[in-house]
Amino acid sequence: MGIIDEIKALKAEKNALILAHNYVRPEIQELADFTGDSLELSMKARSSGAKLMVFCGVRFMAETAKLLSPESTVLLPNPDADCPMARMADGEQVKAWRSEFPDAVFAAYVNTTAGTKAQVDICCTSGNAEKVVRSLEGKKVVFLPDRNLGGNINNKLGTEMALWNGCCPVHDQVTPEMLKGAREFFPDAAIIIHPECKVECTALADAALSTAGMLKFVKDSHKSTFVVATESGLLHRLKKENPGKRFIPLAPEIICPDMKKITLEDLRDALKFNQHEIILPPEVMENAVKPIEKMLALS
Ligand code: 13P
Ligand code: SF4
Repeated sequence: MGIIDEIKALKAEKNALILAHNYVRPEIQELADFTGDSLELSMKARSSGAKLMVFCGVRFMAETAKLLSPESTVLLPNPDADCPMARMADGEQVKAWRSEFPDAVFAAYVNTTAGTKAQVDICCTSGNAEKVVRSLEGKKVVFLPDRNLGGNINNKLGTEMALWNGCCPVHDQVTPEMLKGAREFFPDAAIIIHPECKVECTALADAALSTAGMLKFVKDSHKSTFVVATESGLLHRLKKENPGKRFIPLAPEIICPDMKKITLEDLRDALKFNQHEIILPPEVMENAVKPIEKMLALS
């Protein structure tokens, strides 16, 4: 039996739900029950009722699934698949920063560890960040860890959130020159960008959206060519779901090594041996779910 059939048989035998982020390897996306952005995946994890979830993405996403579905077993097929940005603000640092801003609301991007989430008031994803920040109107807000996402929201909403100095090393590589070059070479294309890119870059694109937002934008657009300024994994769904349209990656280096870590072999072994389970300390579980639930109540 080939590995794909082996995975399908194990998945059926274990009655497992496979969730995948839009950036993971295409062959993994093809095997998933559901592929989506961070917000969609967290909602799916909460509502699915699956006893066994195999999360193909990075660690903070699998942790979020566990927080929202504490009775389920959540597996991360490659335990090294981690988001470097999520390591840029640890729980103890956030605790210390809170004492400097005692009257501020702390808002965290979901790209944080469960330990950091346990220290903040509310979470957001790139798909609902504006809505979440709008809900905090009139309050002093500290936003972490992504200075780019936070800066993009400040720019759009005219807010003055204090920003943690973290970023996504993948999206932070995008430069205004790349976007100017794309505009010149493809004047008829729509340029879509992820809000983890710098403010001076999003200003040069036609739309700054989460990965699910980009899929919707393309589907609804009358344009036929799109320059895509986000991680290359999204191109799989963009092409598959829009066969008549053309997609040009902004730059070949926009690849997240962590999002590529889960292989077919990892997925097979996770199902076969029930590895690698997400286990969080009870006090972290109790506190980290609160800011996520607050976010979901607004979504
Ligand atoms: P979205 O899919 O929610 O836009 O998130 C991008 C991301 O940071 C995944 O690592
Ligand atoms: Fe983290 Fe960026 Fe990779 Fe997403 S693309 S997992 S934010 S490093």
